[in-house]
Amino acid sequence: MAQIQGIKGVKDVLPDEARVWQHIRNKAREIFHTFGYSEIIIPVLESSELFLRSIGETTDIVEKEMYLFDDRDGKKIALRPEGTASVVRSFVEHNLSHSLPFSKLYYIGPMFRRERPQAGRYRQFYQIGAEVFGFASPQIDAEMLSMLDLFFNSLNIKGVELQVNSIGCPICRPAFREALRNFFSDKLSNLCDNCQRRYELNPLRILDCKSPHCHAIAEGAPKTLDYLCDDCLKHFNTLQDCLKLAGVSYNINQRLVRGLDYYTRTTFEFVSGSLGAQNAVAAGGRYDSLVEELGGPPTPAIGFSIGFERLFSNFDSSSVAVKLINVFVAALGDKAQEKAFQIINQLHKKGISAITDYDGGSLKSQMRKADKFDSEFVLIIGDDELSKGVVIIRNMKNKAQEEVPITMIVEKLEGIFKTHDSP
Ligand code: HAM
Repeated sequence: MAQIQGIKGVKDVLPDEARVWQHIRNKAREIFHTFGYSEIIIPVLESSELFLRSIGETTDIVEKEMYLFDDRDGKKIALRPEGTASVVRSFVEHNLSHSLPFSKLYYIGPMFRRERPQAGRYRQFYQIGAEVFGFASPQIDAEMLSMLDLFFNSLNIKGVELQVNSIGCPICRPAFREALRNFFSDKLSNLCDNCQRRYELNPLRILDCKSPHCHAIAEGAPKTLDYLCDDCLKHFNTLQDCLKLAGVSYNINQRLVRGLDYYTRTTFEFVSGSLGAQNAVAAGGRYDSLVEELGGPPTPAIGFSIGFERLFSNFDSSSVAVKLINVFVAALGDKAQEKAFQIINQLHKKGISAITDYDGGSLKSQMRKADKFDSEFVLIIGDDELSKGVVIIRNMKNKAQEEVPITMIVEKLEGIFKTHDSP
Protein backbone atom coordinates (compact mmCIF):
# COMPACT_ATOMS: atom_id res chain seq x y z
CA MET A 1 0.00 0.00 0.00
CA ALA A 2 1.21 3.50 -0.77
CA GLN A 3 2.56 5.37 2.21
CA ILE A 4 0.91 8.61 3.27
CA GLN A 5 3.40 11.40 3.92
CA GLY A 6 3.07 14.42 6.18
CA ILE A 7 2.31 17.63 4.30
CA LYS A 8 4.90 20.13 3.13
CA GLY A 9 6.07 22.64 5.71
CA VAL A 10 4.51 20.67 8.57
CA LYS A 11 6.77 18.53 10.66
CA ASP A 12 6.61 15.81 13.25
CA VAL A 13 8.34 16.35 16.55
CA LEU A 14 9.64 12.91 17.39
CA PRO A 15 10.05 11.76 21.02
CA ASP A 16 13.75 12.68 21.43
CA GLU A 17 13.05 16.20 20.20
CA ALA A 18 9.74 16.41 22.05
CA ARG A 19 11.61 15.75 25.29
CA VAL A 20 13.76 18.81 24.60
CA TRP A 21 10.68 20.87 23.68
CA GLN A 22 9.19 19.91 27.02
CA HIS A 23 12.32 21.08 28.81
CA ILE A 24 12.16 24.43 26.98
CA ARG A 25 8.43 24.82 27.68
CA ASN A 26 8.94 24.09 31.38
CA LYS A 27 11.73 26.66 31.56
CA ALA A 28 9.51 29.27 29.87
CA ARG A 29 6.63 28.57 32.27
CA GLU A 30 8.95 28.75 35.29
CA ILE A 31 10.42 32.11 34.26
CA PHE A 32 7.14 33.64 33.08
CA HIS A 33 5.49 32.71 36.40
CA THR A 34 8.31 34.51 38.21
CA PHE A 35 7.32 37.67 36.33
CA GLY A 36 3.64 37.20 37.25
CA TYR A 37 2.31 35.80 33.96
CA SER A 38 -0.58 33.31 33.81
CA GLU A 39 -1.21 30.89 30.99
CA ILE A 40 -4.11 31.46 28.61
CA ILE A 41 -5.19 28.70 26.25
CA ILE A 42 -6.60 30.20 23.08
CA PRO A 43 -8.33 28.36 20.22
CA VAL A 44 -6.68 27.38 16.97
CA LEU A 45 -9.81 28.34 15.02
CA GLU A 46 -10.97 31.94 14.89
CA SER A 47 -13.23 34.00 12.73
CA SER A 48 -11.05 35.19 9.82
CA GLU A 49 -12.26 38.76 10.35
CA LEU A 50 -10.26 38.90 13.59
CA PHE A 51 -6.99 38.72 11.68
CA LEU A 52 -8.11 41.02 8.85
CA ARG A 53 -8.90 43.71 11.39
CA SER A 54 -5.84 43.27 13.60
CA ILE A 55 -2.86 42.12 11.51
CA GLY A 56 -4.06 44.27 8.60
CA GLU A 57 -5.58 43.51 5.20
CA THR A 58 -2.48 44.46 3.24
CA THR A 59 0.05 42.43 5.21
CA ASP A 60 1.69 39.32 3.76
CA ILE A 61 0.02 37.13 6.37
CA VAL A 62 -3.50 38.24 5.54
CA GLU A 63 -3.01 38.68 1.81
CA LYS A 64 -1.44 35.34 1.04
CA GLU A 65 -0.61 33.17 4.01
CA MET A 66 -3.76 32.46 5.98
CA TYR A 67 -5.42 29.06 5.97
CA LEU A 68 -9.05 29.93 5.39
CA PHE A 69 -12.18 27.89 4.95
CA ASP A 70 -15.92 28.33 4.94
CA ASP A 71 -17.58 26.48 7.75
CA ARG A 72 -20.71 24.46 6.98
CA ASP A 73 -22.86 27.41 8.03
CA GLY A 74 -20.92 29.72 5.69
CA LYS A 75 -18.93 31.44 8.43
CA LYS A 76 -15.37 32.35 7.37
CA ILE A 77 -12.87 30.60 9.59
CA ALA A 78 -9.08 30.90 9.82
CA LEU A 79 -6.46 28.70 11.39
CA ARG A 80 -4.74 31.26 13.59
CA PRO A 81 -1.56 32.65 11.99
CA GLU A 82 -0.45 34.19 15.31
CA GLY A 83 -1.62 34.47 18.90
CA THR A 84 -1.80 38.19 19.71
CA ALA A 85 -5.11 38.86 17.96
CA SER A 86 -6.70 35.84 19.68
CA VAL A 87 -5.49 36.91 23.11
CA VAL A 88 -6.83 40.42 22.52
CA ARG A 89 -10.17 39.00 21.34
CA SER A 90 -10.37 36.87 24.46
CA PHE A 91 -9.32 39.78 26.72
CA VAL A 92 -12.12 41.92 25.27
CA GLU A 93 -14.75 39.17 25.07
CA HIS A 94 -14.29 38.11 28.69
CA ASN A 95 -13.86 41.62 30.11
CA LEU A 96 -10.53 40.71 31.66
CA SER A 97 -9.83 44.41 32.23
CA HIS A 98 -12.62 44.40 34.85
CA SER A 99 -11.31 41.50 36.88
CA LEU A 100 -7.68 42.62 37.24
CA PRO A 101 -5.96 46.04 37.15
CA PHE A 102 -3.56 44.66 34.54
CA SER A 103 -3.10 41.30 32.84
CA LYS A 104 0.06 39.38 32.07
CA LEU A 105 -0.71 36.37 29.89
CA TYR A 106 1.30 33.77 28.00
CA TYR A 107 0.42 31.03 25.53
CA ILE A 108 2.17 28.15 23.86
CA GLY A 109 0.87 26.49 20.74
CA PRO A 110 0.84 25.99 16.98
CA MET A 111 0.33 28.77 14.43
CA PHE A 112 -0.36 28.35 10.71
CA ARG A 113 0.93 30.35 7.77
CA ARG A 114 1.10 29.19 4.18
CA GLU A 115 4.60 30.53 3.57
CA ARG A 116 7.18 29.02 1.24
CA PRO A 117 8.82 26.37 3.43
CA GLN A 118 12.55 26.70 3.99
CA ALA A 119 15.01 26.27 6.85
CA GLY A 120 13.40 27.86 9.91
CA ARG A 121 10.13 28.53 8.09
CA TYR A 122 7.21 26.17 8.42
CA ARG A 123 3.53 26.20 7.62
CA GLN A 124 2.67 24.88 11.04
CA PHE A 125 5.06 26.25 13.63
CA TYR A 126 4.94 26.76 17.35
CA GLN A 127 5.14 29.95 19.32
CA ILE A 128 5.68 30.74 22.96
CA GLY A 129 4.10 34.17 23.31
CA ALA A 130 3.20 36.64 26.00
CA GLU A 131 1.05 39.75 26.14
CA VAL A 132 0.65 42.40 28.83
CA PHE A 133 -2.44 44.63 28.98
CA GLY A 134 -2.81 47.82 30.98
CA PHE A 135 0.64 49.45 31.14
CA ALA A 136 1.69 52.43 29.03
CA SER A 137 5.04 52.80 30.81
CA PRO A 138 8.22 51.89 28.94
CA GLN A 139 9.28 50.07 32.09
CA ILE A 140 7.07 47.12 31.12
CA ASP A 141 8.69 47.10 27.65
CA ALA A 142 12.08 46.80 29.37
CA GLU A 143 10.82 44.24 31.90
CA MET A 144 9.51 42.07 29.07
CA LEU A 145 12.80 42.26 27.18
CA SER A 146 14.67 41.50 30.38
CA MET A 147 12.45 38.43 30.87
CA LEU A 148 13.27 37.22 27.36
CA ASP A 149 16.95 37.85 27.97
CA LEU A 150 16.77 35.82 31.17
CA PHE A 151 14.92 33.04 29.38
CA PHE A 152 17.51 32.80 26.59
CA ASN A 153 20.33 32.89 29.15
CA SER A 154 18.68 30.16 31.20
CA LEU A 155 18.76 27.97 28.07
CA ASN A 156 22.33 29.04 27.38
CA ILE A 157 21.33 30.35 23.94
CA LYS A 158 24.33 32.10 22.43
CA GLY A 159 24.72 34.64 19.64
CA VAL A 160 21.27 36.19 19.87
CA GLU A 161 21.15 39.96 19.53
CA LEU A 162 18.30 42.16 20.73
CA GLN A 163 17.35 44.88 18.25
CA VAL A 164 14.93 47.63 19.23
CA ASN A 165 13.21 50.47 17.43
CA SER A 166 10.24 52.79 17.73
CA ILE A 167 7.82 53.24 14.87
CA GLY A 168 5.91 56.07 16.56
CA CYS A 169 2.21 56.49 17.07
CA PRO A 170 -0.80 57.66 15.02
CA ILE A 171 0.27 61.26 15.77
CA CYS A 172 3.82 61.13 14.42
CA ARG A 173 3.80 58.20 12.01
CA PRO A 174 1.91 59.95 9.16
CA ALA A 175 4.77 62.45 8.77
CA PHE A 176 7.31 59.63 8.67
CA ARG A 177 5.23 57.74 6.12
CA GLU A 178 5.05 60.87 3.97
CA ALA A 179 8.82 61.39 4.23
CA LEU A 180 9.35 57.81 3.07
CA ARG A 181 6.99 58.29 0.12
CA ASN A 182 8.89 61.43 -0.89
CA PHE A 183 12.19 59.61 -0.60
CA PHE A 184 11.12 56.59 -2.66
CA SER A 185 9.00 58.48 -5.23
CA ASP A 186 11.80 58.81 -7.79
CA LYS A 187 13.21 55.33 -7.05
CA LEU A 188 9.98 53.40 -7.49
CA SER A 189 10.87 51.66 -10.73
CA ASN A 190 14.02 50.26 -9.11
CA LEU A 191 12.12 48.62 -6.26
CA CYS A 192 10.81 45.03 -6.35
CA ASP A 193 7.13 44.48 -7.25
CA ASN A 194 6.27 43.92 -3.62
CA CYS A 195 7.82 47.20 -2.55
CA GLN A 196 6.11 49.09 -5.36
CA ARG A 197 2.82 47.95 -3.88
CA ARG A 198 4.03 48.71 -0.38
CA TYR A 199 4.85 52.25 -1.49
CA GLU A 200 1.15 52.96 -1.81
CA LEU A 201 -0.19 50.90 1.06
CA ASN A 202 2.49 50.90 3.74
CA PRO A 203 5.84 52.42 2.74
CA LEU A 204 7.37 51.51 6.13
CA ARG A 205 7.52 47.90 4.98
CA ILE A 206 9.99 48.84 2.21
CA LEU A 207 12.55 49.32 4.99
CA ASP A 208 12.58 45.63 5.93
CA CYS A 209 12.36 44.18 2.41
CA LYS A 210 14.67 41.16 2.19
CA SER A 211 15.70 41.89 -1.43
CA PRO A 212 19.34 43.08 -1.36
CA HIS A 213 18.51 45.59 -4.09
CA CYS A 214 15.67 47.26 -2.15
CA HIS A 215 17.78 47.03 0.98
CA ALA A 216 20.55 49.05 -0.65
CA ILE A 217 18.13 51.66 -2.04
CA ALA A 218 16.55 52.08 1.42
CA GLU A 219 19.96 52.74 2.96
CA GLY A 220 19.56 56.50 2.67
CA ALA A 221 15.85 56.59 3.60
CA PRO A 222 14.57 58.84 6.40
CA LYS A 223 15.03 57.38 9.87
CA THR A 224 12.03 56.66 12.07
CA LEU A 225 13.60 58.06 15.24
CA ASP A 226 13.99 61.48 13.59
CA TYR A 227 10.21 61.68 13.18
CA LEU A 228 9.04 60.63 16.64
CA CYS A 229 6.82 63.06 18.54
CA ASP A 230 8.02 64.16 22.01
CA ASP A 231 6.01 61.49 23.85
CA CYS A 232 7.23 58.66 21.61
CA LEU A 233 10.82 59.86 21.84
CA LYS A 234 10.58 60.05 25.64
CA HIS A 235 9.15 56.53 25.69
CA PHE A 236 11.97 55.23 23.56
CA ASN A 237 14.67 56.97 25.59
CA THR A 238 13.25 55.72 28.89
CA LEU A 239 13.08 52.21 27.46
CA GLN A 240 16.79 52.41 26.71
CA ASP A 241 17.58 53.74 30.20
CA CYS A 242 15.62 50.85 31.74
CA LEU A 243 17.35 48.27 29.54
CA LYS A 244 20.69 49.61 30.74
CA LEU A 245 19.51 49.48 34.35
CA ALA A 246 18.39 45.88 33.84
CA GLY A 247 21.72 44.99 32.24
CA VAL A 248 20.13 43.93 28.94
CA SER A 249 22.31 44.66 25.92
CA TYR A 250 20.64 45.82 22.71
CA ASN A 251 21.22 47.57 19.42
CA ILE A 252 18.97 50.08 17.70
CA ASN A 253 17.80 48.96 14.27
CA GLN A 254 15.83 51.74 12.64
CA ARG A 255 14.66 49.41 9.89
CA LEU A 256 12.77 47.23 12.32
CA VAL A 257 9.21 48.07 11.30
CA ARG A 258 7.60 44.58 11.64
CA GLY A 259 5.20 42.93 9.24
CA LEU A 260 1.97 43.28 11.19
CA ASP A 261 -0.04 46.50 11.20
CA TYR A 262 -0.99 46.73 14.85
CA TYR A 263 2.30 48.02 16.26
CA THR A 264 2.85 51.41 17.86
CA ARG A 265 6.07 52.76 19.39
CA THR A 266 8.40 49.98 20.58
CA THR A 267 9.25 47.16 18.18
CA PHE A 268 11.91 44.55 18.80
CA GLU A 269 13.41 41.32 17.56
CA PHE A 270 15.93 38.87 18.93
CA VAL A 271 18.00 37.85 15.91
CA SER A 272 20.42 35.00 15.67
CA GLY A 273 23.57 35.10 13.57
CA SER A 274 23.38 31.35 12.94
CA LEU A 275 19.89 31.17 11.44
CA GLY A 276 20.40 32.48 7.89
CA ALA A 277 17.55 34.38 6.24
CA GLN A 278 14.92 33.45 8.84
CA ASN A 279 16.93 34.92 11.66
CA ALA A 280 14.31 36.24 14.11
CA VAL A 281 14.04 33.91 17.07
CA ALA A 282 11.55 36.14 18.85
CA ALA A 283 9.74 39.32 17.92
CA GLY A 284 7.13 41.69 19.16
CA GLY A 285 6.24 45.18 20.19
CA ARG A 286 3.74 47.56 21.62
CA TYR A 287 0.21 47.78 20.21
CA ASP A 288 -1.58 50.51 22.15
CA SER A 289 -4.63 50.86 19.87
CA LEU A 290 -5.50 47.24 19.12
CA VAL A 291 -7.69 46.47 22.14
CA GLU A 292 -9.87 49.46 21.34
CA GLU A 293 -9.90 48.63 17.62
CA LEU A 294 -11.27 45.20 18.51
CA GLY A 295 -14.07 46.66 20.60
CA GLY A 296 -12.47 46.87 24.05
CA PRO A 297 -11.72 49.81 26.33
CA PRO A 298 -8.60 51.91 25.54
CA THR A 299 -5.81 49.67 26.85
CA PRO A 300 -2.08 49.96 26.19
CA ALA A 301 -0.48 46.61 25.46
CA ILE A 302 2.76 44.94 24.49
CA GLY A 303 3.81 41.41 23.65
CA PHE A 304 6.21 39.04 21.95
CA SER A 305 6.31 35.61 20.38
CA ILE A 306 9.23 33.23 20.25
CA GLY A 307 9.48 30.86 17.28
CA PHE A 308 9.90 27.48 18.92
CA GLU A 309 11.63 25.75 16.00
CA ARG A 310 14.15 28.58 15.64
CA LEU A 311 14.82 28.62 19.37
CA PHE A 312 15.30 24.86 19.27
CA SER A 313 17.90 25.08 16.51
CA ASN A 314 19.91 27.51 18.67
CA PHE A 315 19.67 25.26 21.69
CA ASP A 316 22.19 22.63 22.70
CA SER A 317 19.91 19.60 23.11
CA SER A 318 22.67 17.50 24.63
CA SER A 319 22.36 19.62 27.77
CA VAL A 320 18.96 18.06 28.50
CA ALA A 321 19.31 14.91 30.58
CA VAL A 322 17.81 11.93 28.82
CA LYS A 323 14.96 10.56 30.89
CA LEU A 324 15.81 6.98 31.69
CA ILE A 325 13.29 4.25 32.18
CA ASN A 326 13.81 3.24 35.81
CA VAL A 327 13.01 -0.43 35.52
CA PHE A 328 12.64 -2.98 32.74
CA VAL A 329 11.13 -6.30 33.84
CA ALA A 330 12.39 -9.28 31.85
CA ALA A 331 10.01 -12.16 32.44
CA LEU A 332 10.57 -15.67 31.08
CA GLY A 333 7.43 -17.75 30.67
CA ASP A 334 3.72 -17.20 31.32
CA LYS A 335 3.86 -17.46 35.12
CA ALA A 336 6.75 -15.00 35.31
CA GLN A 337 4.90 -12.61 33.01
CA GLU A 338 1.92 -12.61 35.30
CA LYS A 339 4.27 -11.68 38.16
CA ALA A 340 5.90 -9.01 35.99
CA PHE A 341 2.48 -7.53 35.27
CA GLN A 342 1.78 -7.27 39.01
CA ILE A 343 5.18 -5.79 39.81
CA ILE A 344 5.10 -3.04 37.18
CA ASN A 345 1.55 -2.24 38.20
CA GLN A 346 2.75 -1.62 41.77
CA LEU A 347 5.79 0.33 40.56
CA HIS A 348 3.59 2.65 38.46
CA LYS A 349 1.52 3.41 41.55
CA LYS A 350 4.73 4.40 43.36
CA GLY A 351 5.67 6.73 40.49
CA ILE A 352 8.56 4.56 39.28
CA SER A 353 8.73 4.27 35.49
CA ALA A 354 8.65 0.60 34.58
CA ILE A 355 8.07 -1.34 31.38
CA THR A 356 8.01 -4.95 30.35
CA ASP A 357 7.94 -6.73 27.02
CA TYR A 358 4.53 -8.37 26.83
CA ASP A 359 5.74 -10.46 23.91
CA GLY A 360 8.38 -12.13 26.10
CA GLY A 361 11.25 -13.70 24.18
CA SER A 362 14.63 -14.96 25.28
CA LEU A 363 16.53 -13.37 28.15
CA LYS A 364 19.15 -12.16 25.68
CA SER A 365 16.62 -10.39 23.48
CA GLN A 366 14.88 -8.83 26.48
CA MET A 367 18.20 -7.57 27.87
CA ARG A 368 18.90 -6.01 24.49
CA LYS A 369 15.54 -4.23 24.62
CA ALA A 370 16.23 -3.03 28.18
CA ASP A 371 19.45 -1.51 26.85
CA LYS A 372 17.63 0.21 24.00
CA PHE A 373 15.28 1.85 26.48
CA ASP A 374 18.21 2.92 28.66
CA SER A 375 16.73 1.24 31.73
CA GLU A 376 18.59 1.83 34.94
CA PHE A 377 17.62 -1.55 36.42
CA VAL A 378 16.41 -4.82 35.00
CA LEU A 379 14.39 -7.30 37.03
CA ILE A 380 14.82 -10.85 35.82
CA ILE A 381 12.13 -13.40 36.65
CA GLY A 382 12.33 -16.99 35.38
CA ASP A 383 11.07 -20.36 36.63
CA ASP A 384 14.03 -20.72 39.02
CA GLU A 385 13.40 -17.34 40.61
CA LEU A 386 9.67 -18.03 40.87
CA SER A 387 10.26 -21.32 42.68
CA LYS A 388 12.63 -19.57 45.11
CA GLY A 389 10.25 -16.60 45.52
CA VAL A 390 12.89 -14.10 44.37
CA VAL A 391 13.71 -11.79 41.48
CA ILE A 392 17.15 -10.85 40.23
CA ILE A 393 17.76 -7.13 40.20
CA ARG A 394 20.52 -5.98 37.89
CA ASN A 395 22.02 -2.50 37.94
CA MET A 396 22.62 -1.74 34.27
CA LYS A 397 25.29 0.86 34.98
CA ASN A 398 27.70 -1.14 37.14
CA LYS A 399 26.30 -4.58 36.16
CA ALA A 400 26.00 -5.59 39.85
CA GLN A 401 23.13 -7.97 40.52
CA GLU A 402 21.50 -9.59 43.52
CA GLU A 403 18.51 -11.69 44.44
CA VAL A 404 15.68 -9.99 46.30
CA PRO A 405 12.51 -11.65 47.68
CA ILE A 406 9.58 -10.91 45.36
CA THR A 407 7.61 -9.54 48.30
CA MET A 408 10.36 -6.96 48.96
CA ILE A 409 11.21 -5.82 45.45
CA VAL A 410 8.83 -2.86 45.18
CA GLU A 411 9.95 -1.56 48.58
CA LYS A 412 13.60 -1.97 47.58
CA LEU A 413 13.15 -0.03 44.33
CA GLU A 414 11.16 2.61 46.14
CA GLY A 415 14.12 3.05 48.51
CA ILE A 416 16.54 3.38 45.59
CA PHE A 417 14.49 5.94 43.69
CA LYS A 418 13.60 7.97 46.76
CA THR A 419 17.31 8.56 47.44
CA HIS A 420 17.80 9.32 43.69
CA ASP A 421 15.13 12.00 43.74
CA SER A 422 16.11 13.72 46.96
CA PRO A 423 18.14 16.89 46.40
P1 HAM B 1 5.95 37.37 14.03
O1 HAM B 1 7.16 38.19 13.79
O2 HAM B 1 5.04 37.19 12.88
O3 HAM B 1 5.17 38.06 15.22
O4 HAM B 1 6.33 35.95 14.58
C1 HAM B 1 7.07 35.82 15.78
C2 HAM B 1 8.12 34.75 15.64
O5 HAM B 1 7.49 33.52 15.23
C3 HAM B 1 9.16 35.00 14.57
O6 HAM B 1 10.19 35.83 15.07
C4 HAM B 1 9.66 33.60 14.29
O7 HAM B 1 10.60 33.19 15.29
C5 HAM B 1 8.41 32.77 14.45
N1 HAM B 1 7.81 32.48 13.13
C6 HAM B 1 7.02 33.28 12.39
N2 HAM B 1 6.66 32.68 11.23
C7 HAM B 1 7.24 31.47 11.24
C8 HAM B 1 7.27 30.36 10.33
N3 HAM B 1 6.58 30.36 9.19
N4 HAM B 1 7.99 29.25 10.68
C9 HAM B 1 8.69 29.21 11.84
N5 HAM B 1 8.69 30.23 12.73
C10 HAM B 1 7.99 31.35 12.44
C11 HAM B 1 4.00 37.58 15.75
O8 HAM B 1 3.53 36.51 15.50
C12 HAM B 1 3.40 38.50 16.78
N6 HAM B 1 2.15 37.89 17.25
C13 HAM B 1 4.37 38.75 17.91
C14 HAM B 1 3.78 39.61 18.98
C15 HAM B 1 3.23 39.18 20.14
N7 HAM B 1 3.66 40.92 18.91
C16 HAM B 1 3.03 41.34 20.01
N8 HAM B 1 2.76 40.28 20.74
